[in-house]
Amino acid sequence: ARMAVMASGRGSNLEALIKAFPHDNPLGHIVLVISDRREALALQKAVEAQIEAEYVPWPKERGREQFERVAGRLLHDHRIDLVLLAGFMRLLSPGFVQAWEGRILNIHPSLLPQFPGLHAQRQALEAGVSETGCTVHFVDAGMDTGPIVLQRRVPVLPGDTAETLAARILEQEHLAYPEAVRRVLKGEV
Ligand code: GRF
Repeated sequence: ARMAVMASGRGSNLEALIKAFPHDNPLGHIVLVISDRREALALQKAVEAQIEAEYVPWPKERGREQFERVAGRLLHDHRIDLVLLAGFMRLLSPGFVQAWEGRILNIHPSLLPQFPGLHAQRQALEAGVSETGCTVHFVDAGMDTGPIVLQRRVPVLPGDTAETLAARILEQEHLAYPEAVRRVLKGEV
């Protein structure tokens, strides 16, 4: 399968995915990385891995429409089978998501349906839960909704800050995302 990653920032999940799906992985590999932020580290990481990296702007006006038109064409031209959102900080339109239904995944740093949206780790701390984690799910028109592929759990420890908790979850994200993609590509979900 030919896969594209969309990322807005640091790109540590992108890195884990690149490691898990190198060019010679018969299951699939990443052929394209798209970012809505020119300065995203994710774009640099793609270039370092010799993967095509495209900055696609999200202008103030009609940003979503513009982004989706350009990104949609890139995905089409690269014959992408599966789109992986990895720290992609924008909400895609229902039309775009429907066009990719069953072929677009996201990762979120909580055990969904708990704590959707921004600052999921802080939300978990404020709720006082003893356990949280991460979720890989198919994307639908909602924010952090859609059928769940898999979750990994982590404890919330005494003295945790949003940062220490985020780091503990992130370690699990780097395992969860490649595993979820493997399952989807093998047709197990
Ligand atoms: C991750 O915590 C991901 O779950 C969330 O944004 C963060 C992205 O991190 N949606 P990175 O860019 O993959 O390092």
